[in-house]
Order: sequence, then structure tokens, then C-alpha cells
Amino acid sequence: MNSASTFKYGHFDDATREYVITRPDTPLPWLNYLGQDEFFGLCTNTAGGYSFWKDAKLRRLTRYRYNNVPYDLGGRYFYVNDGGEVWNPGWKPVKAKGVKYECRHGLGYTRIVGERDGLEVETLFFVPPGENLEVWKVTVRNKSAQRKTPKLFSYQEFCFFEALNDMTNYQRTYSIGEVEVEGSAIYHKTEFRERRNHYTLFACTRPIAGFDTSRDAFVGIHEGLHEAKVPFAGQATNSVAFGWNPIGSHQIDLDLAPGAEESFAFVLAYVEQGDAPKFDAPFVMNKSVGRAIVEKYSAPGAVDAALASLKAYWDALLGNFQVDCPNEHAQRMANTWNQYQCMATFNMSRSASMYETGIGRGMGFRDSNQDLLGFVHMIPSRARERILDIAATQLSDGTCYHQYQPLTKKGNADIGGDFYDDHLWLVLSTCAYIKESGDTSILQAPCAYADKAYENVITDTLLDHLETSIAYTIKKRGPNGLPLIGHADWNDCLNLNCFSTEPNESFQTAGDVRDSKAESVMIAGLFLYAAREMAGLYEHLDRNSDAARMRGHYAEMLDTVERVTWDGAWYTRAYAADGSVVGSHTNTEGKIFIESQGWCVLGGAGANNGRARQAMESVHRHLYTKNGVVLQQPAYSTYDKALGEVTSYPPGVKENAGIFSHNNTWIHLAWCQLGEGDRALEYYLSICPSAKQDQIDTYRGEPYVYAQMIAGKDAPCFGEAKNNWLTGTAAWTFVVVSQGLLGIKPDYAGLRIDPCIPKDWPGFKVTRRFRGDTFEITVSNPQHVSKGIKAVRVDGKDIDPTQAIRPAGDGRTHRVEVVLGE
Ligand code: BGC
Ligand code: NOJ
Repeated sequence: MNSASTFKYGHFDDATREYVITRPDTPLPWLNYLGQDEFFGLCTNTAGGYSFWKDAKLRRLTRYRYNNVPYDLGGRYFYVNDGGEVWNPGWKPVKAKGVKYECRHGLGYTRIVGERDGLEVETLFFVPPGENLEVWKVTVRNKSAQRKTPKLFSYQEFCFFEALNDMTNYQRTYSIGEVEVEGSAIYHKTEFRERRNHYTLFACTRPIAGFDTSRDAFVGIHEGLHEAKVPFAGQATNSVAFGWNPIGSHQIDLDLAPGAEESFAFVLAYVEQGDAPKFDAPFVMNKSVGRAIVEKYSAPGAVDAALASLKAYWDALLGNFQVDCPNEHAQRMANTWNQYQCMATFNMSRSASMYETGIGRGMGFRDSNQDLLGFVHMIPSRARERILDIAATQLSDGTCYHQYQPLTKKGNADIGGDFYDDHLWLVLSTCAYIKESGDTSILQAPCAYADKAYENVITDTLLDHLETSIAYTIKKRGPNGLPLIGHADWNDCLNLNCFSTEPNESFQTAGDVRDSKAESVMIAGLFLYAAREMAGLYEHLDRNSDAARMRGHYAEMLDTVERVTWDGAWYTRAYAADGSVVGSHTNTEGKIFIESQGWCVLGGAGANNGRARQAMESVHRHLYTKNGVVLQQPAYSTYDKALGEVTSYPPGVKENAGIFSHNNTWIHLAWCQLGEGDRALEYYLSICPSAKQDQIDTYRGEPYVYAQMIAGKDAPCFGEAKNNWLTGTAAWTFVVVSQGLLGIKPDYAGLRIDPCIPKDWPGFKVTRRFRGDTFEITVSNPQHVSKGIKAVRVDGKDIDPTQAIRPAGDGRTHRVEVVLGE
């Protein structure tokens, strides 16, 4: 298999960093994201999706009906009427026969080309860096021998900004819609007359032959999008929406000689009025900002320059890490798609995808902290800002809002807090940021607690939050001395305090955690990791007594873990509210869980007594499959209210013995820690989407992004992926490949190189930009080992292999040669 191999639905084009989809009827809609800063769009391979600014709930610009029939319907549509025949370049919604189709999902753009009867229509969607708008570039080519006079109709539906109200409150929304049309520009200005000072602009950069802004006029009342009235009639109605459902549609009439082509563009922009007067006249909006945008993108070359700047943006970002190694899947994922997915998870957290509707969950506390691990090397300054935003949703007692809205940055009270792992992830993200950037000043950055945000002078710092986090776990311990679990730990569905018999409540918030005694071994492992990180941080700051204090906490917890949680061949998972064990050979189901093996080993448990290796061999024996490691075994077959939601799912899916790719990565890292490079790569490939193309009708998900979940061996659909894109898997697999396998580890003092690779790899090369310098690293493996450094040479000089490579700070390229061996 190589980049040129074509599978049933398409192939990677590694040179252009695109995934090429060659037929539209993919096993599921295959998604891409547009946007990198504040304006975002979801765009499927049939041009479905929607756009929003910053917050998919509070600033939704265009509409999308989730779980539609078919799944993906509605989006950035173009209807072509070529001599009465109507079709779409992206196949949907008309799904006309005989349309030649190709979709290329690239980095921040999607290009879809359709061709029928000698007419080719190429559409390209992207968000230029730094802009609050999408550009839709269209090129129409007459490849036939006859003159053609096709008509083209754009179509998208406006959303009234607040997405939940928009899709539920029709007694109100059917009466409030307002638009204005000026030349080729359509302005959606619902609620502009009252408190909003923003609107959506949808404009064409070329003269139009007509427009529509009423959905009823364009589509009809009893018609579907596939039989919309206007494009089939071939004539726009110039409708001006008053209430009901405003849309934007432009009619473009073309006249193309044989061989001729014409290019033009549309902009879909989010516009804030700023301090300018809102109105030019009663009911006439001041459109000056919108007009300037249309003018800018109507200038010759403007659209192509914007596209070039997007390409340059991604070339620069990805240039921070590039690898050349013997495994094509690991290589293309690490070089391109994994880093790209990390940008999406950084921006979206778990808010907007084909599985997240953008109205429920904003930024997750634990999620966004983990997402930073795969993002921090790309744009450390944005990571810094995010860390401070997240920390500000922590309360002064140590607990955290589990989620917050990106626009308001306020904690979401509906889901609340008391997930007793949340606060610890802040330690991991902060340390990762400092190791990457060297910027310890973030620790002293003022950062209020959410319950003290009203105070005029902020005296708390980020470092205080980290201390509060460590202290909180120490304080919240149960009868065995292990951390309490609260509503749940990383496993949202292991609800040991919920006891729910009531179908109308959420497992995550039901139940009283206050007097609960239920404990989590996974949090204990995570605490070990976090306490060791804190100790290292304090050492770096020359605060030796604080470092010793953290080592004391570490030693105490390690002792508890080893004393209490060893089950004979693996670590147990939890202790229920009544003190009974979860994840032990004494249980009839759920005997062994993945999370506590991963975190105990990564936290350093079992390192000196053989248990780490034994726990991992148990994972291999009981949990590993060709499609990844299942979450636990045996799957639960009946509901157990003492364990909660995990026992409510059918066996083989979600937390009930599904393959959660996210927690698989902790096992990959644990294998690396044990020096087992062959196992690490084998396990990595078992969840790697690029390696699933030859079984794509089973896998069904996008081959270019990691899935949150793959159905486990207990499910009839073993190997089927779900919840692709927005998953902690993205960040963690980047850590696995870049730091675990390839062993390029940022540390306070500099870069450490400590690979763990398959024995048959002769070596590999990495280019790593680090604190302004560029390291060209060549690793050779003449003795065919997995781990162990024999020699390190920097710019031709031997250095002590146990020392980090300090950046010279000269902004230059430095040559690093590493020889593995004994
Ligand atoms: C769902 C879980 C899911 C969790 C994510 C819960 O509401 O029930 O299945 O893993 O949300 O936070
Ligand atoms: C998805 C959530 O986003 C994540 O925070 C959680 O850890 C996993 N589900 C596992 O339950």
C-alpha cells in the first residue's frame, strides 16, 4: 500500500496533503473542517454542513438539521441548470445520475468537482487565516464542443445565531427573520434591530441574474431540497424573506464558448458592526463593513491570494514536526492528518462534529487540557491562552466546571462539576506547555477561580491552581487511601455514586457524591503522573523543598496503589460505594479494565516489581484485538446500578467493552515505557484509520482522522468506527508517535531523544522546530534494538546521551545524529 493505492472510496494524496474521495456515496458522510482561528465550518464530502463564529451554539450562522434523512443534508449547495437538466457538483441534494465526482479534503479546505455532459463545476470552500469568513470559489468550464449557457444557483439556509432556540422555538422564530439585499449581497440581519450588533453576509463577487432569500420561494412548501423549485424552473424569484426561514441564493447566468471557463467567488461572513451607527435609515442597516468585505474579495487575485496564505499557514505549522520513517501510516498521520486533527480538537473541543450538535457540550475541562498535548508544539501562544481560560473555570476548592462555553468562557452549570479527575489534567497541559515553550512566566499569570471571578484584584496565579489541584486529590480520598471518583473519572460512564433507577435523569449528574466512599484507581495512576510532573517542574524552578513535597505525595500514593490495587495479574479499576472491588478476577464481569493498567504503569507503578509488565501482558491477553484494545472484559450483560451507565450499554460499544481509541494510546505509551517498540507499533496500527482502508466498509469512518470509538469484539459490528474527529485520541496519538515511538520529547532543559521503535526499523529522520531552532534529527539503528541510546552528536560534537539537547537560541538549523544500541 502506498499513497497511490486507490481503495473503494478514495486514497491519500500525500504530496498535496489531501484525501481524495472518488465517489460520493461513502459509508458515512466524511467530514472536513474549514477555519483555524475563530470562524469555522463543517464540510462533508457532499458539501453538507454549517458555519459558525467561535461558538457553535451561540453564534451559528447557517443551519443544519442533525440526524437528517439522509444523515447529511443541507449545506453549501450549488445547483446547476444546464439546458433544463439539474444537478449538483457535490452530488447532493439532487443526486442526478451520471455526475463525475471528486472531492479533495485538504488542510482547511475542501474542493469538490462535478462534471456532467461536458460541463465541469469546481467548488472550493475555505476560511482564509485571520478572517471571519468563508470563501466559496467556483470555476465553471465548458469542456464540450458546443456553446453552453448554464445557470447556477447558490443555496444555504441562515441560522438565527442561537442554535438551540433556532431548532426548537418556532412560535418565535417563524416570525422574526429579516434580510436585506443590495446588489449581489444578501444580508441576514435577524434580531439586529434589538440587541445584536452582528449579521451574516452572503455575497457573490460577480453580478447576479436574480436572488432568493425565502426558503419557501426557493424550495417550496411540500418539496425537498432535491426538487427545489427555483433551480428546476431555472429562474430565481427575487424573494425577500419576511419571517419564516431566510436563505441565501444567487442566480448566475453563464455563457461559455467551447473550452471557455469562468471563475468567481462567494463570501459568507460574520460581521460585527463595532461602534458604527447601526442604521442608515429606519429598517436600513448600515452595511459599510459588509460592503468593504465584498469589495476586498471582488478584487482580482484576492481569492487566490487568500488560498495561498492558507497553504502557507499549514506548511509553516506542519513544518514544526515532520518525520520520515519506515511505516507509511504512522508517517502520513503524524506529518499531516494527526496534527490537523489536533487543530480541530483544540478549536472545537467536543462541540461540533457529525456526532456533537454544537449545542450541548462546549469546551470540556479534561478534554481541552488533553487536546493541548497534541497542539502545543504548533502554536504555543494559543495554548497559553487556552490554559488560562480553562484554569479560570476551576473553583477555589479545587473542583472544576466540567464544561464551558467558548464564547462566554463561563462554566456550564447544567453538567456542573465533581468529576474528580478533571483538575489533574491541568497539571499535564501546563507542564507540556512549559516544556515546549520554556515559558515559566505562565505560572505567575493572574488567574481567578470561577467562584472568585468578581473580585477586582486577582491575586491567584496559575501555579496556585496547580497546587489546588494536587491538594484536592489528596483531600478527596476514600477508605483505602485512593482518590474518590465523584460523579465519574475519565470514564464518564463508571458512575459509582449514581444508583439511578430513573430513566429521566442523567447518569453524569445524578447521585450524591458528597459522602461517597467510591474510589478510582485510574485517578490514583493519573495522580502519580501529575505529582511526578509537579516535582519535575519545581526542580526546574529550583524550588527543591516543593519538589520534595511532591515526591512525598507521589511515594505515599504509590505505596497505596501497590498495597491495595494489585489483583494478582493486573491493577483493579475502582472501589464501589459499598467498598466492593471493580475490575478484579473476583468479579463475574468487568474483571479487567484498560484505564488503570495504562495510568498505573505510566504513573510508575509496577516499575520495580515486575507488575507493570505483568499488567501489560494481561492487557494483551484479555483486551487486545486486531481493531484495538477493548475497554474491559467481560462486557457487562446486565444493568448494575452500583456501576452506572457503563452497564447500560449493549456489549461491545462505548464504555461497555468498546474500543475507546483514546485510552488505547495510554497502553501504547506504556509499551514504549517498557521498551516494546514492536508491540507499540502493532497496537498503534490497530486503531490507525489510514491502515483501515482495505476494510473500509466495516470501518466506515474517515480514513484520515482517528475515531473516538471502534466497536469491540462483543459487538456484531466489530471494527466499526464512530464519533470520528473530536476525540482525545488525536492529541494522545501525536504524543504516542512523536514522543513514544520516535522519542522526540520536549523537556524543560531542551529536547530529549529516546525512541522506542520496532526492531526491524533501520532508523528514521525527524525535523523538529523547538523554541525557534530547527533540529534535523537522524536516528540510526544498526544493532536492531527497540530502545537505548549509544551515542548522540549535535552539530558534529558528541554529547552525553542522558542530557537534553539545549536549543542554541540562534534560530538556525542544527544537525543531531543519534545511534541506537547497547
Ligand atoms: C454520555 C456518555 C459520554 C459522556 C461524554 C454522557 O452524557 O452518556 O456516554 O461518554 O457524556 O462526556
Ligand atoms: C468522552 C468525553 O469527552 C471524555 O471526556 C471521556 O473521558 C470519554 N468520553 C470516556 O467516557
